[in-house]
Amino acid sequence: MTDVPLFRHRRHIVLVIEDDSANRQLLASLLTRERYAVRTAVDGESGLIAALDPDLDLILLDIGLPRIDGLEVTRRIRLDRRARTVPIILLTGRSGVEEMVAGLDAGADDFVSKPFERPELLARMRSAIRMREAILGMESAQAVVAALANAVEAKDITTELHCQRMAGLAAQLGERVGFGDEELEGLAYGALLHDVGKIGVPEGILTKAGPLSPDEWTVLRRHPEIGERICQPLGLSRSFVTIVRHHHERWDGLGYPDRIGGEAIPPGARIVGLVDAFDAMTHDRPYRAALTLDVAMDEIRSGAGKQFDPALAPVFLEILEATTVKPN
Ligand SMILES: [Fe+2]
Repeated sequence: MTDVPLFRHRRHIVLVIEDDSANRQLLASLLTRERYAVRTAVDGESGLIAALDPDLDLILLDIGLPRIDGLEVTRRIRLDRRARTVPIILLTGRSGVEEMVAGLDAGADDFVSKPFERPELLARMRSAIRMREAILGMESAQAVVAALANAVEAKDITTELHCQRMAGLAAQLGERVGFGDEELEGLAYGALLHDVGKIGVPEGILTKAGPLSPDEWTVLRRHPEIGERICQPLGLSRSFVTIVRHHHERWDGLGYPDRIGGEAIPPGARIVGLVDAFDAMTHDRPYRAALTLDVAMDEIRSGAGKQFDPALAPVFLEILEATTVKPN
């Protein structure tokens, strides 16, 4: 695995829509000096066309444009799918509350009043660009997570829908034991991706209709480490990569890959391990039929303190007892 960035940092592209030529030039030269790539438009009509460029990072928009004013330009930009997420900072002469409310309602992100203070303008620009990049990063990370989860389910037909079912049960259990929002998010990703390392396990082993040979077991047991390596480059992997690595550890320390036990197993991994084992018991596998719910619950009960966290198992059994739709 390499840490070399795939893309070089590029200059941020800012569109300045301003009818006053002196102001427009002032902004253009200031921003160019600050190493922004600057585009300009002299009115709302040409600004709306320039705003459709998908590479734009920010729009500085004069509110007092002739014909189509800045508020209307903002509204139209926000209606267009191609430009909906680009941050807009309105340049306003008057900074009355009414105008700010109208600007926010139209979809602007921030305001700077003219004549502007350079440090303030630049700080607000940096903040708007940072915020948008964070959101875009999050969206693409979620898309990657979904794609990875689909990839493993496509390869291992026996786990179809298994990960989604698990994410629901794991979230309930996490909430019951007091996980906060961030931990619950990590738990959801962990539940979805815990078996992503099976991408690196031959299909013949995953779908074998019979007991695995010792060598095949060795290969299958590599999936938590393969999964950890697959997930590591994702920015948000810190929140769940330990779940991927440790979901087959056991409370008594006899699991894999690290044979850690008890509270040394990260709490999210204990939850996913428990829910994973239950889901596997209650659904058909190529080599055995599903257990009934009662038998599976007995297995959880007798596994508490051995395979499973003895504090978690009873809470999970309570959740199962309260669930009206029983697994088939
Ligand atoms: Fe697994």
